[in-house]
Amino acid sequence: MAKLVNRVSATLSETDHPYLNGAWTPNFAEYDADDMEVIGEIPADIAGIYVRNTENPVHDAIGKYHPFDGDGMLHMLRLKDGKASYKNRFIRTRGFEAEQEAGEALWIGFTGNPKKSRRKGWGAHGYIKDSSSTDIVVHAGQLLSTFWQCGEGYRVSAENLDTLGIEGWVPLDGISAHPKVDLKTGEMMFFNYSTHAPYMHYGVVGADNRLKHYTPIELPAPRLPHDMAISPNYSVLNDFPLYWPKELIDQGVYVPQYDQTRPSRFAVLPRYGNGDEVKWFEAERTYVLHFTNCYEEGDDVVLDGYFQKNPGPSRCRRCRTRTS
Ligand SMILES: [Fe+2]
Repeated sequence: MAKLVNRVSATLSETDHPYLNGAWTPNFAEYDADDMEVIGEIPADIAGIYVRNTENPVHDAIGKYHPFDGDGMLHMLRLKDGKASYKNRFIRTRGFEAEQEAGEALWIGFTGNPKKSRRKGWGAHGYIKDSSSTDIVVHAGQLLSTFWQCGEGYRVSAENLDTLGIEGWVPLDGISAHPKVDLKTGEMMFFNYSTHAPYMHYGVVGADNRLKHYTPIELPAPRLPHDMAISPNYSVLNDFPLYWPKELIDQGVYVPQYDQTRPSRFAVLPRYGNGDEVKWFEAERTYVLHFTNCYEEGDDVVLDGYFQKNPGPSRCRRCRTRTS
């Protein structure tokens, strides 16, 4: 039986927007559902949680709504002793709390015109709200939610989905969408990017949740990377030709452009390598939103991912780089 725990203040109007209806219909209530009905049988030796992050707006958009603007809401299914329980909670980000207090949207969002925004600057540092709605990873015994344009990173209890706050080690430039956790060592690898030199940093957080390593990765100019990959000994970052043109950044406009004249480059560095230890590998022009696997075969690092000729419809290919 589901028990209503809380209902947040919402002002969202009815609309036929495709990303606000059907499976995307926002939910303003937080529930606990214990001892759920089980169809069939859950093996008694399965114990753990499955958590997913979603975009769940509660206020009308200032301009156009884009699903990336929705507030982060976590859904958790727990399996234990052959039983299943569920709960959902909003992530209490600074943006969510500010808009709850204001009773309206305060950020213009992803498709808004930055020139019309009271908040200047890109992504989670400016005109887009850090809604911490992009990914959720398990690290150091708790959850960590992230935002795709280098948000602050929020710790959330893996027990009850309470928001514990902004993670203390997160650098000023934030962390990108998809940190990678090494399940054998418990270490977590991440990167961030920015509009100021050196334009990217890479870091390692230990299983004890302490920042162990943080190093600059020099890029020629600002870029829009999204994902990274790890193998047992290496981390792989990238310099893809998708970026905000500098002349637009200077005007406070952040419209990505895919440069058809530049190659793609992959950065391979040892897990605790410094920026000057990066080996760059130039490749046929591509963009990869998400990598699906990374592993080592002798001296080779093999990357699986969706390699796109142009960010748009994608296909899966394999890329191989040599480390020595
Ligand atoms: Fe992603």
